[in-house]
Amino acid sequence: MRLLTIESSCDETSAAVVKDGVTVLSNVIASQEAVHSLYGGVVPELASRKHLEVVTPVIEEALFRSSHTLDSIEGVAVTQGPGLAGALLVGISVAKALAYARKIPLVGIHHIEGHLFAVFLEQTVQFPFVALVVSGGHTHLYRVDGFGRYRTLGQTRDDAAGEAFDKVAKILGLPYPGGALIDKLALGGDPCSIRFPRPLLHDGTNNFSFSGLKTAVMQFVRKNPLSVEGRALHDLCASFQAAVCEVLAEKTKAALRDTGIDRLVVAGGVACNSGLRSAMGKLARETGVKLFIPSPVLCTDNAAMLAVPADYYLRNGIRSGLQLDAKTVWSLDSLAERVQE
Ligand code: KG4
Ligand code: ZN
Repeated sequence: MRLLTIESSCDETSAAVVKDGVTVLSNVIASQEAVHSLYGGVVPELASRKHLEVVTPVIEEALFRSSHTLDSIEGVAVTQGPGLAGALLVGISVAKALAYARKIPLVGIHHIEGHLFAVFLEQTVQFPFVALVVSGGHTHLYRVDGFGRYRTLGQTRDDAAGEAFDKVAKILGLPYPGGALIDKLALGGDPCSIRFPRPLLHDGTNNFSFSGLKTAVMQFVRKNPLSVEGRALHDLCASFQAAVCEVLAEKTKAALRDTGIDRLVVAGGVACNSGLRSAMGKLARETGVKLFIPSPVLCTDNAAMLAVPADYYLRNGIRSGLQLDAKTVWSLDSLAERVQE
């Protein structure tokens, strides 16, 4: 089955053509970074307007690069939520129009479900697996038993890991989104130079908390203004990143131990982080767990990742009607109803 998939939940407009749920024929991503970096964060109104401007050219480009036309597309999948209402509605409206006009099935996909299965575009992973999803809005540990069968094992109580990276970048005067920049600066620094707190490290739960860590960085910078210059900036970024990665790795290790599962998927934008990738590599070597992390382009928001669950759902007769609406808040656990129907 050849699917056209559309993602517009936040600040990336993306369209992809994917065959049989795993063969990516094209994956076009138009980033709005330049629009939002002026404001230090995503401005919802500007995001919707930009999605509206580029969604048609992005879809046309995805079809062109795949060497297909709409005539050979057999289904449409779109991110239904969670995300920004206006942004989601752009992708959803186009997807509905295409499905109606071409008389092909439509399915709405949970954004995090896309992230969970992005690695399936490159590797086969057997169920069950533990997944750590770390992005701008999520820091969640899930147990995944199959498509639609997810159980939350733990989550952040406040900031998501990506949010913490972006907020610390802002404190340091770096442009939005600063996660990738902190990663780059950290490469030249000493991760042991500043001992930042490791929140909830030994609280016995699978939950996370990053807002106190961000405050610790802010207080440190206030007391040591020179820490945001030269070599000291590299040390600060490396020390902050080390604190985040240690907590993520330790909590993930505990979840793997508690569930007795030996397969781990790490997904979402923060999975691009070099410190996290090496911490997870170390965890895998020490515990014998099999580790699956997508290539960086499939970690951040993209439409191709939606095709993996979409192909499964459509093959099993699970589709959305034209009444499909954006869900700005949507629990992944609630998808169980979909596969039980
Ligand atoms: O998954 P994603 O593209 O969008 C959301 O669903 O949120 O994740 C974006 C987040 C941003 O917070 C960004 O700063 C962070 O991922 N990010 C990184 C890196 N690359 C992207 N954080 C740390 N290190 C990176 N290399
Ligand atoms: Zn995302």
